Amino acid sequence: MKNINDVKKIAVIGSGAMGHGIAQVCAQNGFMVTMIDVKQEFLDNAIKKVKESLDFLASKGKLQGTVDEVLGKISITTDLQKGVSDAHVIIEAVPENMQLKKDVFAKASSACASDAILATNTSTMSITEIATAVTNPERFAGMHYFNPVTRMKLVELIYGAKTSENTINILFELTKKIDKFPVKVLKDRPGFIVNRISAPNQALLSAILDEGKIHPAQIDGKMKKMGVKMAPFETADFVGLDVFCHTLEYYAQTLSPRYKPGKFLLGCLEKGYLGMKSGKGIYEWKDGKAIIPEMPDTEEITPLHLMAVQVNEAVKVYKEGIAAGVQDIDDGVKYGMNAFAGPFALASGVQPQQLTDCLNYLAQRFKLDILKPEPEIIDGSFKTIGR
Ligand SMILES: NC(=O)c1ccc[n+]([C@@H]2O[C@H](COP(=O)([O-])OP(=O)(O)OC[C@H]3O[C@@H](n4cnc5c(N)ncnc54)[C@H](O)[C@@H]3O)[C@@H](O)[C@H]2O)c1
Repeated sequence: MKNINDVKKIAVIGSGAMGHGIAQVCAQNGFMVTMIDVKQEFLDNAIKKVKESLDFLASKGKLQGTVDEVLGKISITTDLQKGVSDAHVIIEAVPENMQLKKDVFAKASSACASDAILATNTSTMSITEIATAVTNPERFAGMHYFNPVTRMKLVELIYGAKTSENTINILFELTKKIDKFPVKVLKDRPGFIVNRISAPNQALLSAILDEGKIHPAQIDGKMKKMGVKMAPFETADFVGLDVFCHTLEYYAQTLSPRYKPGKFLLGCLEKGYLGMKSGKGIYEWKDGKAIIPEMPDTEEITPLHLMAVQVNEAVKVYKEGIAAGVQDIDDGVKYGMNAFAGPFALASGVQPQQLTDCLNYLAQRFKLDILKPEPEIIDGSFKTIGR
């Protein structure tokens, strides 16, 4: 594969929440797609969901071509070897299990063309380790989409230790062709760019719940009044407290033990309070909506505190060389979290002393050293680094 013009056919392995969305956006943008799964019924269900989504887009006048034309570009199979045999790019979206991913890539890389590119949509696993299962690790990379794929613009492209420049460049052009926004992730580190920047705020939410002095609705209510579509505790419930805790456990193992999920969240899991999907989590849920009680606002934790935590982590991501520059970090957060702007842009008008005070206060009050301000926050140089 020399360049993007050689890419005509894409195979997507796994047709679940992410896979069917990836298949859809590729087909919508002119690629021939083969969707692969282990059971015919999973594939039939995936096609049904793609059709529903395309019908919706067509009804809003947002679909180029007809629903049938797009569906005509997607074929399905339960035969992995056959499905990847003529693909130029193969994107894996099977469940988050290292051995499963390695097995899938061992099979796929031995059955595909010798110059095909292979990519994984993993959120948390090491690209370099998955690459040990493929025959040519230089043709292998991370291609991390965000949920729901049809709506979220960002795709993080992650280098494994042996990934070639050409592989990333082709995936970069492919991402643009499917109307998404590519950001390169130069180092295969936990959380890549966007999830990593959210990580310390996840730990903070857990600590606030454990302390029990501030009601989550006091923070969420204020943010909703400011126009935030989904506030932080509400988001945790929406994602699922099991997934939320699992992510914290993962960061506790890979970044710092301070990320361990706290007693409150673990207690929720024990009681089966998983958030939206179980009807109760941090909040009660009804008809897909959190019931956030009316509470007086609090000045103890404000949106400025949460923003300070984000920009502090963004500085670490920049210094660790995970992103090519601060613009990539800001773009990643903007398009991967549907945020108004990225952390560096948002914090540019805030006094360094204010951010420093917020971070010192949080680190002390919640005994979270991971929130201590970086030197570049204290001296204000975060406003100019990398620019
Ligand atoms: N769901 C999210 O919000 C999200 C966001 C970003 C990345 N991811 C990552 O995307 C990947 C897939 O997640 P998901 O939420 O779509 O999972 P999912 O469980 O919804 O779908 C996985 C699909 O893979 C299929 N599968 C299992 N073994 C297979 C095999 N050997 N060959 C072919 N298909 C197989 C399953 O039958 C299922 O249809 C994971 O690595 C996850 O971490 C998920």
